[in-house]
Amino acid sequence: MPRDTIGLVTDVTLSSKNPTAVKAEALVVATAQTSDGVAVVSDQLPTDLLTQLETLAPQLGVTGARDEVRKIPAGPQLAAEVLVLTGLGERAEDGTFATETLRRAAGAATRELAGLSSAAIALPASDDDEIIAVTEGALLGAYAFNRYRSAATGTKDTKDAAKGARNGKNGKDPVAALEILTPLHKNAKAKLAAERAEILAAAVHAARDLVNTAPNELYPATFADAAKAAAKDVKQVKVTVLDDKQLASGGYGGLTAVGQGSSRGPRLVKVAYTPARPNAKVALVGKGITFDSGGISIKPAAGMDAMKSDMAGAAAVLSTVVAAAKLGLPVAVTGYLCLAENMPGGNAQRPADVITIYGGKTVEVLNTDAEGRIVMADGLVSAVEDGHDVVLDIATLTGAQMVALGSRTSAVMGTDEVRDEVKAAADAAGELFWPMPLPEELKSNIKSKVADVANSGPRWGGMLNAGLFLQTFVGDHPWAHLDIAGPAFNEGGAHDYTPGGGTGVGVRTLLTFLEGRAK
Ligand code: BES
Ligand code: MN
Ligand code: ZN
Repeated sequence: MPRDTIGLVTDVTLSSKNPTAVKAEALVVATAQTSDGVAVVSDQLPTDLLTQLETLAPQLGVTGARDEVRKIPAGPQLAAEVLVLTGLGERAEDGTFATETLRRAAGAATRELAGLSSAAIALPASDDDEIIAVTEGALLGAYAFNRYRSAATGTKDTKDAAKGARNGKNGKDPVAALEILTPLHKNAKAKLAAERAEILAAAVHAARDLVNTAPNELYPATFADAAKAAAKDVKQVKVTVLDDKQLASGGYGGLTAVGQGSSRGPRLVKVAYTPARPNAKVALVGKGITFDSGGISIKPAAGMDAMKSDMAGAAAVLSTVVAAAKLGLPVAVTGYLCLAENMPGGNAQRPADVITIYGGKTVEVLNTDAEGRIVMADGLVSAVEDGHDVVLDIATLTGAQMVALGSRTSAVMGTDEVRDEVKAAADAAGELFWPMPLPEELKSNIKSKVADVANSGPRWGGMLNAGLFLQTFVGDHPWAHLDIAGPAFNEGGAHDYTPGGGTGVGVRTLLTFLEGRAK
């Protein structure tokens, strides 16, 4: 299968080898918490080895808790060199583990395999759902962003240096090859599941790469180039770019206003996947603020660097459209990437400016830091105009999203059915989303004294105010809005299959949504 050169570097195969016999550098096995200690979750390892591990668990510091990974010498009974124990926590009442638990444990393990050339994963994988979860988790965890590390500094490890490996613990490449051990290795459905997992992980990794790319390199024009590069050689995908001049003359007043403070002009990129006989037509609109300084309503310096991630919605959309095409889903999907850099400057928009969004509605810009909703308005009107069955938008839209739901759970708002459909897709994909209301009663919050609508209102309900603003531009068209402000960028340490920095959140939910519409 064709593999992206950026994004996914790990090769994955299904295999039915016995875990004791696989000649890999590392063998990954799961542990679990039980009422009387730790259990090693394997019916194929020798019983004396299991007993030994379970007895020594306290000395090894192994508890079986989630996100706990320990590496120990494999010993003479295993062909592998290192045994990696990854925790699943407690069993569910029915004795099994939730698929998301498997996904996370697999990813937590592969994060610790960086720098290795081969590993085998012997987690529960005896049905399609388990194989999907383990393969996805393993590949999602096998991620590194080393582009900016120079090879010259740091390590004293001559072996690493000779191999040209990058320095330091954080500079290693992900494990090169993974074998997922499953009795179903020849099963056609299982093989398809593994291929889908590869395409999905490549898409998530590509979105992470874009988010992690420094904003001096990734700006609207280069993001548009990245979209073209991602779609190159992908059948039935066409990329069209509107540049700053075309946007201004075409009436895209939102992108134009937000982008005018920067020397790097805005772009609207359409990424259209058009299969022969689609069962549905879906629009995905993504916020692509390549850097959000706040503009004239400038943000405080502390933490401003994280605003390189303000294009995570557009990155998720681009990756999703490409993945849908690679999977050959019978759904026509058009991505609208709303790209601009929000900067203060002599030509920047001011608080009190009134601008005209594509389609004619006017906006009073009370706060130039509420820029996402302004560029999204152009994208949403354009998407509705193009006649899709359903419009989804995804954006790092509000700090209020994090106040409401924290940094791990995204929000979804919209028309009732579509909102619930997105929530169900997120549940199936293993991403945390929670439904939020769009109360009619709060519409007065975004009333303008001079224009059709104001771009900001009182602090309370900030996420809902932003959602209501977007709703103004979609009317009653079937629609959902995904606010991923917190989950898009992990400012803390890595956990389970989630690295620090860009997370690629939203790709799995959007792709699962499209798969649902494909039926
Ligand atoms: N990009 C930010 C939202 C954001 C904040 C994303 C933190 C990720 C982490 C957005 O453009 C913004 O600045 N929103 C303002 C809106 C306000 C001025 C109405 C906010 O949330 O403070
Ligand atoms: Mn902002
Ligand atoms: Zn923003």
